Amino acid sequence: MSARGDAMTIIAKEKHRLAYQTPDFVITQIDLDILLDENHTKVIAVSQVRREGNHKNSLVLDGEELILLSVRVDKKEATYRLENNQLHIDNVPDSFELTIETEINPAANSALEGLYKSGAAFCTQCEAEGFRRITYYLDRPDVLARFTTKITANKAAYPILLSNGNRVASGDNLDGSHWVMWSDPYPKPCYLFALVAGDFDVLKDTFTTKSGRTVSLELFVDKGNLNRSQHAMNSLKKSMAWDEQRFGLEYDLDIYMVVAVDFFNMGAMENKGLNVFNSKFVLANPESATDTDYFDIERVIGHEYFHNWTGNRITCRDWFQLSLKEGLTVFRDQEFSSDLGSRTINRIRNVKIIRGPQFAEDSGPMSHPIRPDVVMEMNNFYTLTVYEKGSEVIRMLHTILGETLFQKGMALYVSRHDGQAVTCDDFVQAMQDASGIDLTLFRRWYSQSGTPVLNITDEFDAVNQQYKLTVKQHTPPTKGQADKQALHIPLSVALYNKYGEYLGEQYDQVLNVTQEQQVFVFSDVADKPVVALLQDFSAPVRLEFTYEDQDLFLLIQHSKSAFIRWDAAQTLLNKYIRLNVERFQQNKELILPPSLFSVFAELLRDQTLDKSLVAEIFRIPSESSMAELFDDIDIDAIHAVKCFIENAIATQLHELFMESYQSNKTGAYQLIQSDIAKRDLVSVCLMYLAIHGNERDQHIILSHYQSADNMTDVLAAMQAAKQGELSIFAEMMLAFEAKWKTDGLVMDNWFRLQATSPSANCLSTVKSLLTHPSFSMQNPNRLRALIGTFSAANSYRFHAIDGSGYVFLGEILAQLNKSNPQVASRLITPLLQFKRFDTVRQGLMKQELQKLAGQPDLSRDLFEKVSRALAE
Ligand code: TRP
Ligand code: ZN
Repeated sequence: MSARGDAMTIIAKEKHRLAYQTPDFVITQIDLDILLDENHTKVIAVSQVRREGNHKNSLVLDGEELILLSVRVDKKEATYRLENNQLHIDNVPDSFELTIETEINPAANSALEGLYKSGAAFCTQCEAEGFRRITYYLDRPDVLARFTTKITANKAAYPILLSNGNRVASGDNLDGSHWVMWSDPYPKPCYLFALVAGDFDVLKDTFTTKSGRTVSLELFVDKGNLNRSQHAMNSLKKSMAWDEQRFGLEYDLDIYMVVAVDFFNMGAMENKGLNVFNSKFVLANPESATDTDYFDIERVIGHEYFHNWTGNRITCRDWFQLSLKEGLTVFRDQEFSSDLGSRTINRIRNVKIIRGPQFAEDSGPMSHPIRPDVVMEMNNFYTLTVYEKGSEVIRMLHTILGETLFQKGMALYVSRHDGQAVTCDDFVQAMQDASGIDLTLFRRWYSQSGTPVLNITDEFDAVNQQYKLTVKQHTPPTKGQADKQALHIPLSVALYNKYGEYLGEQYDQVLNVTQEQQVFVFSDVADKPVVALLQDFSAPVRLEFTYEDQDLFLLIQHSKSAFIRWDAAQTLLNKYIRLNVERFQQNKELILPPSLFSVFAELLRDQTLDKSLVAEIFRIPSESSMAELFDDIDIDAIHAVKCFIENAIATQLHELFMESYQSNKTGAYQLIQSDIAKRDLVSVCLMYLAIHGNERDQHIILSHYQSADNMTDVLAAMQAAKQGELSIFAEMMLAFEAKWKTDGLVMDNWFRLQATSPSANCLSTVKSLLTHPSFSMQNPNRLRALIGTFSAANSYRFHAIDGSGYVFLGEILAQLNKSNPQVASRLITPLLQFKRFDTVRQGLMKQELQKLAGQPDLSRDLFEKVSRALAE
């Protein structure tokens, strides 16, 4: 491709937020008649179409991968044109009935978008723009229609036929087929359409809403999996009750269905009344699923359920507004998890995602505001920025308004916009109108990309007993946005005295940072205080503040906020990671302050602390989050420093890990908070014992593995043995494989263990596993477990200086470019950051991107990312 050709293609494919226009036509009703067949599915769509506004424009419908059989306007054969995946019909009446017949090939659909086969079942995925692979349609979220769906299929193979809304009629045909008719009373955009057909086991239950209506709950799983479906059902009932209690929002249909499928590009999908889930977020029993799996199931079931209001009843005007539903729904699912479990631990885990991969995304070639301005392929914008930073923006609103005013804003938003397709601005306006708080400045969070830096200095005036904080903010330039403006940043701070005593609520405040530089003064402060900054991570920013070690130790030991205790430990570790990377580069000996060991030892001994908090403090930041501390990433130095810190802690605190392991080992498996926390801490102890690795340590790890009655403990032992490169690891892997080889979801753990191996032959192992009988290039979960984990979670091996990791990923991406571009486009992430590596690695990474750019049929998904990265 010539440079000129490149630029022109890019311009042709880009869509701009500000170019939004209301639709020329709307569809108020669509009746679908779908005859399912593996290779020749027939779709007859009858739509009621109405012209909007005063114009003579043609009706233009989207369609992809369709065979068009006929087009009728008011039952008469119509003339039409097909141009670039669009169907044009000229001279249509102002109001008419449109009948379109198309044929599709679900069995050949490996992209898992539109109608496809997942194993033996048919299912659909229409968000964002997949409905156009089912029929020609106005495939945009601001066209809201009532849907009816008649599904016909062979009865023996597909006894269960599902779509959105209520089951209204059904019958048998003479040829062995049967049909079911569904009707959804709520107008919806087509991205919320769903259809499922197959043979499933079903778990049934009911939920009675606060107004006394009984809702049928139906959970569909592959035959034989009923014994793994109860937790998902419990989670659904908890979600329904929580949304009533905390948000006053009640379910609106008589039935709520969830279907688990094995082939799915993402986590799950909130289709109205018929959620489709990646089976990973449904199936669990203690033997096969970890505590984290259980937690994720509850979280994702909640997330999709909460979309019923924030996404479905109130939807997005256009896809640039995606964070309207996703940021808000992630905020809601985080609150759900926090109200039901540990608020602090939830916060810590979410903050790790923001500071690690989200900060990386926001400083790289794909950097975009939570409400993007320019998009080529919408599937590329289901990002950490839109979801996780989007949720942080909602959380800041919550912090600024407080729970009462925030809920008042939610109530106004819902009553004002129910049944509409709206914008992020509409949401903020409702929050402003309900609270009376001016959010003009706050809105910049929606338009500005990049991570703001807060630079803070302090000053104590002993004479006037004043403590002063000088706060400066700036946001470094990002891709396509050179100039940045000041943002409204809620900065939560608290003061402690030199004994670690909390100075009281008047010294515990949320400061409103709104200018480039501001000074905040605390009066009547007797001695120089120690300040806890950015409590609970009150804004998604990087913090620059020079702490003395002793102040951090004081916060770790005495802060009344568990979050700050963890965060102070992070700050301390980060300080020594930076220092040691520099020392490594200068060939100097690596060092840690001796008090680190005594303070950390104290944490392990302290019986009053939440065990999960202790586990989180002892978990040294991953190499990829360490990389976020530096502009230029030194892979070897970071790896050496990480090993050094872990080895030092493992050696210094060895006896304590032994004791802590013994005292926290749990009995028979119970899914209760206190045991989950203990298993978490035990897994950290095992890891340090494995790093220490003497015979007694190995014995403990092996017997932990052998006596485990649940997957959490099994994997904790295996993870430790792998990390310590112990000889027992190989036997464990063999036994695990023999036991689980037919269970893909469980085998994903086994693939992840191989992919994160520190051993020098990791890549060749990963390559050989591509032909393992449990692996499949068609299954996104397997791809993420083996290839995604290797390239994103094993930096040291992926970034091997000979470029072998890059070549491997490049080849896989070239292959997936054809079969599943969406998954390819997610797996490419580690290659996009090449700018921050040394020149040798940079050159090798760039070479792989250039090879991809030269692919004859590069998908829009990969084209957008590759061209943005290479244009840097
Ligand atoms: N709306 C879904 C969610 O947030 C996301 C989703 C599921 C999705 N499947 C997808 C997005 C496929 C793009 C493509 O839960
Ligand atoms: Zn969502």
